Amino acid sequence: MDISNRFEMFAEAIPGLMVIDTDGNLVYINEQCADYIKCDREKARGQFVTDVFPPSCMHEMLKGNKKYNVCFYFEDGRMSVSSQVQLREEGKVVGVLEYDTVQDLNGLDEMFMKYSESLRQEADYYREQVRAFQSTKYSIKNILGSSKKTQELKHQIELAATMQSTVLIFGETGTGKELVAHSIHNLSDRAFGPFVSVNAAGMPESLIESELFGYEDGAFTGAKRGGKRGRFELANKGTLFLDEVNQMPLSLQPKLLRALQEGEIEKIGSEEITKVDARIIAATNRDLYEMVQDNTFRDDLYYRLNVFPIIVPPLRERKSDIPELVRAKVEELNLERGKKITRIDPEVFRTLKSYDWPGNIRELYNRVEAAMNYAEGDTLYQEYFKFRADNSRVNIDELHSEENPIEAIKKEAERKLINETLIRFDHNKTKAAEFLKISRPLLYQKMRRLGIKV
Ligand SMILES: Nc1ncnc2c1ncn2[C@@H]1O[C@H](COP(=O)(O)OP(=O)(O)OP(=O)(O)O)[C@@H](O)[C@H]1O
Ligand SMILES: [Mg+2]
Repeated sequence: MDISNRFEMFAEAIPGLMVIDTDGNLVYINEQCADYIKCDREKARGQFVTDVFPPSCMHEMLKGNKKYNVCFYFEDGRMSVSSQVQLREEGKVVGVLEYDTVQDLNGLDEMFMKYSESLRQEADYYREQVRAFQSTKYSIKNILGSSKKTQELKHQIELAATMQSTVLIFGETGTGKELVAHSIHNLSDRAFGPFVSVNAAGMPESLIESELFGYEDGAFTGAKRGGKRGRFELANKGTLFLDEVNQMPLSLQPKLLRALQEGEIEKIGSEEITKVDARIIAATNRDLYEMVQDNTFRDDLYYRLNVFPIIVPPLRERKSDIPELVRAKVEELNLERGKKITRIDPEVFRTLKSYDWPGNIRELYNRVEAAMNYAEGDTLYQEYFKFRADNSRVNIDELHSEENPIEAIKKEAERKLINETLIRFDHNKTKAAEFLKISRPLLYQKMRRLGIKV
């Protein structure tokens, strides 16, 4: 059957179709549309469009350059979705064509269902990708070590993942607290939800508050237009990680406590209350109980956080993990730096096990990385780990500078101390300054004076 010139058949197949001329008068209306708006099709022709169908806005498309428009009509409790197209001949507008995609809410429901289903599938796909990506970096599989302490830690993580309780992770710097928090999240039934972290260290108070709770439009000068959602809200249906919670200013602790207790947050500059369902994991490298005794941490907040405590053991208490950690780091660096270390001299492990690792796994990794830089061949030797050099003797022949030798050796000691501290804290100046018991600006000043790269 030749249907190529049966325009009428095509036009009638559309749920609704109308065409107007440049005066806004109807030149065409199909049967289904006439039925829908309850008009006489023959009489309608030639009439102004709103005389036939008062809600119509087709004639507005005659003006301007908008070539395409979508509009929604609500009539008699029904709703239709229509598309409007400007008709042009040699660049000049000669009329407007409007066609309906659906003519009732049922049709709309179906349409939404179809789109939302495909959108949902798409969202699921991306969520899975993100999860796969995250979990390769931060899952329990990445917690290396087979010592008893590490096994016990993994067991605690698995247990915490089955619960909704607040977890408080305590551990020295570099022990893997962040890794633990991620692992709990990724093993929990919130794994598909967001993992949002907040670190209060080194942030001014007002900034922490707006990061945590967000603010309303115009809450303060310099506030972003339209306001901002806080991390609490962003963590809805997922996990909120309060990293270095010991650094949370005292003045903000009551507000944080309220949010944790009620699951409700109040944006800055707003009275409105938002319900948030976020699982809380907090981490600290200081004994919060001690801080409570010193009145630097609120006891009520401490008890609210300390529901399921997890203690991450320092590396010196699980030294048998060292070979596994070192091998893993070496392999990673082989790939990353194009090195070819296939052998580690057993002396290396003996040396590394004799050290106490105050900077824990992070420090170990940094030392391995530094040692790898010396390695030329395929073996990692103990000599590449220079940090254990015996400093008890002073080589006075080396003190031939113009300077006063006492000043020179003090300066040298200071330089070494700062360098070592920076290595331990992964060049985190805030932490290094805290450890050295000096201010951050003073640390910068000393680094510049001693010729340490900032
Ligand atoms: N058991 C482990 N196996 C492998 N890598 C680990 C392990 N624990 C920690 N790491 C690694 O050590 C480094 C430091 O870990 P992380 O950042 O989690 O420490 P942290 O306890 O949060 O330290 P800080 O208190 O200084 O923030 C990271 O590179 C992490 O991947
Ligand atoms: Mg951390």
